[in-house]
Amino acid sequence: MMENAIKNPFILTPYVPEKYFCDRDEETALLCKHILNGRNVALFSERRLGKTGLIRHCFEQPRIKNHFNCFLVDIYPAGSLKEMTALFAKEVFANNTVSGLGDFLLKGIKSIRPSIGYNELTSTITFSAGIGDIPEPEKTLEEILAVLDSLKKPTVVAIDEFQRIRDFSEKNTEAYLRTAFQKCKNIIFIYTGSISHSINNIFKSPDKPFYNSAVMMTISVIDKIVYREFAKRMFRSLGKDIDEALVDRCYDYFSGVTWYNQLLLNEAFAQTDKGGIILETDFDSVYDAIIAQQDFSYRELFSRFSEKQKSLLLAIAKEGKEGAAVTSKEFMLKHGIGPASSIQTACSALKKNYFITDNGNLKQISDLIFRDWLRKY
Ligand SMILES: Nc1ncnc2c1ncn2[C@@H]1O[C@H](COP(=O)(O)OP(=O)(O)O)[C@@H](O)[C@H]1O
Ligand SMILES: [Mg+2]
Repeated sequence: MMENAIKNPFILTPYVPEKYFCDRDEETALLCKHILNGRNVALFSERRLGKTGLIRHCFEQPRIKNHFNCFLVDIYPAGSLKEMTALFAKEVFANNTVSGLGDFLLKGIKSIRPSIGYNELTSTITFSAGIGDIPEPEKTLEEILAVLDSLKKPTVVAIDEFQRIRDFSEKNTEAYLRTAFQKCKNIIFIYTGSISHSINNIFKSPDKPFYNSAVMMTISVIDKIVYREFAKRMFRSLGKDIDEALVDRCYDYFSGVTWYNQLLLNEAFAQTDKGGIILETDFDSVYDAIIAQQDFSYRELFSRFSEKQKSLLLAIAKEGKEGAAVTSKEFMLKHGIGPASSIQTACSALKKNYFITDNGNLKQISDLIFRDWLRKY
C-alpha cells in the first residue's frame, strides 16, 4: 500500500536512476567515448532537455565510474568566481571518500584551512566554508584543481550552466579559467550551457580564450515514439496503463521537452488507480493539477516583480506560443503598456534571470507552466 503510494517511475530530479532513465543511448555512448578519449566537451541545448541528467547518467556507467573520479558543479547560482569556487569546493569535499582525495585535500588546500576539519568518528573530512571564508578564490580554485590533478585516477569535472561565467562580477574570468584549466593534465572538463548563444560565443569565437578547447556536443528532444514506448512500459511495469494518445498529447503540447513530459506523466501516473488506465481526455485534469501545485510558488514569485514587469509578463503570456513583439505599436496598444523604453528596461531585467527568452525578435515566457499560470491569473 505504502510502496504503491510512494513509487512513481517518472523521476523529476536531475539524477534519474538507470531503471527510470529514458533512452539517450546514442548520447550516452558519445559522451562516454569523448571522456574515454580524454576530450573536453561543451554540451549545450535548450533548457530542460536532459543535459545534467545525461552527465549524471554517464557518471554512473561502469566504464566511467570505475576509472574516473567524477564531479559535477552547478554554477547557476554563482555570480562571481568566488561563489563558483565555493560551490566547487563544496562538491569536491562532499566526495572526499574518493580514494586518496581526503589526504590530498588536507595537505593541498592551504588557502581555506580554518574551514577544513577531520571527523575521527566517521574518518571523513568536514568542510564548512561559506563564501566569506574564501579570501583568495583564485588560489583556492588552483589548489583544488592541483589536488584533483594529482590523483591516481583521472578526474572528470562537469561545470553545469557554464555560460554563467559571462555574468561574473570579476573581469577576464574566461581567460583566467582557461589558463587554470589548461594546466591540468589529468582532468577532463565538461561544460554545459543552456543558452546556445552565449555558450557558442565562449567556444566558437576565435578571439575567445576557450576557442577550440572542447568538442561541441548537443542534445535534442527524446524521440516521440521512444518516449511513448517508455511511458507505457513504466505504467505497465507497475500495474497501471496509459492511453498512448495521452502521452502524445503531453509530448506535443510541450514540444517534447523532457522536463515537461516527465512532470505531466508523473502526475498522470499519480492520478491513475492500480489496475486502471488514464485516457487522453484526462489531459486537462492532469495539467490543471500541475498548475494548481505551482500556484503558491508562482504567486510568491509574481509578487516580487515590479508593476511594469508584471504587466509585461501578463501581456507576453497572452500572446501566442511563438512569443510577442513587445515593442511593436500593436502589442503596446493591445495591452495598454508602454513606452517602448520602459518595456525594454523591464525586458532586460527579466531576461537576465531567464524569466523570458528570445525567439528571434519575439519574447517568450521561459517556463511554459508559468506562462499558462499567468494566462489563468
Ligand atoms: N533520459 C531521461 N529520462 C527520464 N527523465 C529525464 C531524462 N533526462 C532528463 N530527465 C528529467 O528531465 C528533467 C530536466 O532534465 P535536466 O537534465 O535537468 O535538463 P537540462 O540540464 O538540459 O536543463 C530532469 O530533472 C529529469 O527529471
Ligand atoms: Mg541542467
